[in-house]
Amino acid sequence: MHSYQRGKLPVSTDRRKLDHIKICLREKVEARVGSGFEDVVLIHNALPELDAEKVRLRTKFLGREVGMPVFIAAMTGGHEETKRINENLAIAAQELNIPLGVGSQRAALEDANLVETFSIARKAAPDVFLIANLGVVQFCKDYTVREAERAVEMIEADALALHLNAVQEVAQKEGDTNFEGALEKIAEISDALDVPVIVKETGAGIAAEEAKLIEETGATAIDVGGLGGTSFAAVEHYRDNASVGSAFWDWGIPTAVSVVECVSTVDIPVFATGGVRSGIDVAKALALGASACGIALPLLKEAVKGSEAVINALRRVERELRVATFLTGSKSVEELSKARVVILGRTREWLTARGFLR
Ligand SMILES: Cc1cc2nc3c(=O)[nH]c(=O)nc-3n(C[C@H](O)[C@H](O)[C@H](O)COP(=O)(O)O)c2cc1C
Repeated sequence: MHSYQRGKLPVSTDRRKLDHIKICLREKVEARVGSGFEDVVLIHNALPELDAEKVRLRTKFLGREVGMPVFIAAMTGGHEETKRINENLAIAAQELNIPLGVGSQRAALEDANLVETFSIARKAAPDVFLIANLGVVQFCKDYTVREAERAVEMIEADALALHLNAVQEVAQKEGDTNFEGALEKIAEISDALDVPVIVKETGAGIAAEEAKLIEETGATAIDVGGLGGTSFAAVEHYRDNASVGSAFWDWGIPTAVSVVECVSTVDIPVFATGGVRSGIDVAKALALGASACGIALPLLKEAVKGSEAVINALRRVERELRVATFLTGSKSVEELSKARVVILGRTREWLTARGFLR
């Protein structure tokens, strides 16, 4: 049924990254449970007393002025064929002035020939807030602060995202499954780097207790990377259907739940990624207290068509965010944090069971 590198060991990092892209483009890789945004309702304001076209979407992202509180979440680089994807994402990010995350730069640290598949992002987006990316588990193994610095230098990044991907690693034959010492490594890197460090999950969310520990490392921000969008357990299932991927397909904390848990617990900015699929989802996340939202999979699907397709998809999100902000009676995206919101259904049950709602 599947034809992605099965039975071939060892699989190089760049080959694995290409498998991930191909699977994400061809297969259904999203969680079969919702992100929780389906349970979040923004209360309609029948008297907005505002001009929709004057609603302010511009805001700050970790201190930098951006076009809207939406970023392109970390996805790719690391294989020759992914260079064009990063270029198209970067052209769109530059056009809309929104932050862009590149995918894990491990492959380029291992093979200098692949550096260009990442540095193209800075070339095509000279002015955007660019986010470097490495997996925390690599630091538990053998990476040092030097690798973190090299990743930042490689793309002249404005921040470094350290990703947590325990579900993916355990679902991978060649996965690195020893996360011992992760917090200490995050603290060491946060202390040593002169750019902000964002700690992000990759589809399973972050609970309040772990958010607190992350904040204590000195990290600058948290991206919840919650359940409800791309499932890396699903992706690994397609690479190897003997893996635990199919059993853990829907494992994790839905994005909306994770946002509430994190914003109720930490004082650092919280970003919402994982199943954010519209400008209305963005407005809902901001109403729950998130500072910005990331979108990955839907933009990958546009990026293979070209930069115009990515720009159009982001313009749609921008329009929806403008309208949703207006219809809640908020004159700026910052004001969305005070918008009236009702949480229903399974998300309410989650948050009540965890003590975040009465
Ligand atoms: C093809 C693909 C590759 C990804 N690679 C990375 C990665 O290298 N590093 C990382 O931190 N997150 C990675 N992610 C996770 C995304 O940044 C994001 O957290 C996740 O996909 C949830 O967002 P979505 O539902 O909008 O796709 C990847 C996602 C996709 C779809």
